[in-house]
Amino acid sequence: MKIGITNLKGGVGKSTITQNLAVCFAHLGFKTVIVDTDTNQNSLSWFGARDKDLPNVNVVGVSESEALNKSVHNLHQDYDIVLIDGTPNLSKMATRIILASDILLIPIRPSAQDFRTMDEFFKRYEDAKEFRNTIPAFFILNEFSEQKRVHEGISKQIESSFDVPVLNSKINSRVAYTEVSVLGQGVFEYSDPKAKNEMVSLTKEILEKAKELKLME
Ligand SMILES: Nc1ncnc2c1ncn2[C@@H]1O[C@H](COP(=O)(O)OP(=O)(O)OP(=O)(O)O)[C@@H](O)[C@H]1O
Ligand SMILES: [Mg+2]
Repeated sequence: MKIGITNLKGGVGKSTITQNLAVCFAHLGFKTVIVDTDTNQNSLSWFGARDKDLPNVNVVGVSESEALNKSVHNLHQDYDIVLIDGTPNLSKMATRIILASDILLIPIRPSAQDFRTMDEFFKRYEDAKEFRNTIPAFFILNEFSEQKRVHEGISKQIESSFDVPVLNSKINSRVAYTEVSVLGQGVFEYSDPKAKNEMVSLTKEILEKAKELKLME
């Protein structure tokens, strides 16, 4: 399965969610690779810091948009899961990621600012649909805080505005996410059980969606 983690807004958690999902998939026994499309190479740096004794998550960098589809296709021959860590640049790459993915995950923080910047992304999404009719997409609420009721309102607002569902599993704001990123780990391998639980729940929900969409057995 090829999963694109994308949003044209920077700093919404694309790399964090990519790396943490990759670790969960690897622990579940899936052969997993991350394609880092960002010129900042966040996932490649993460890979550099990762202990070789941990379950293997491969990371390859593809900065040339013309090469993305081919690279993802080739990697998919050898890996069960290919995660594409998206770039916030308003480049051709953003559209290529949409087209190269079986399923899109769009991290968004419950802030009015993230919400307002979705229009450009959805322009690309609609353009891509001219080449492929159905491109299943789901929002992931990141840096959520259950204490703040206003966030629940934003979640409902997102669904009604963009006609794309929000996954039930939400990712809270937790220092564990920042800490594991420099260690080359995922929260699955770290000492914060709440972070681990929410990431496992997100991984399972994605696998259920993939089954429903017949993207996996
Ligand atoms: N749930 C979270 N809780 C706490 N910190 C988080 C969370 N998600 C992301 N962060 C932090 O927010 C910052 C931005 O996250 P990240 O790099 O994953 O975003 P991005 O969308 O990949 O950014 P870019 O567009 O620059 O590639 C990082 O410092 C990361 O550690
Ligand atoms: Mg990133």
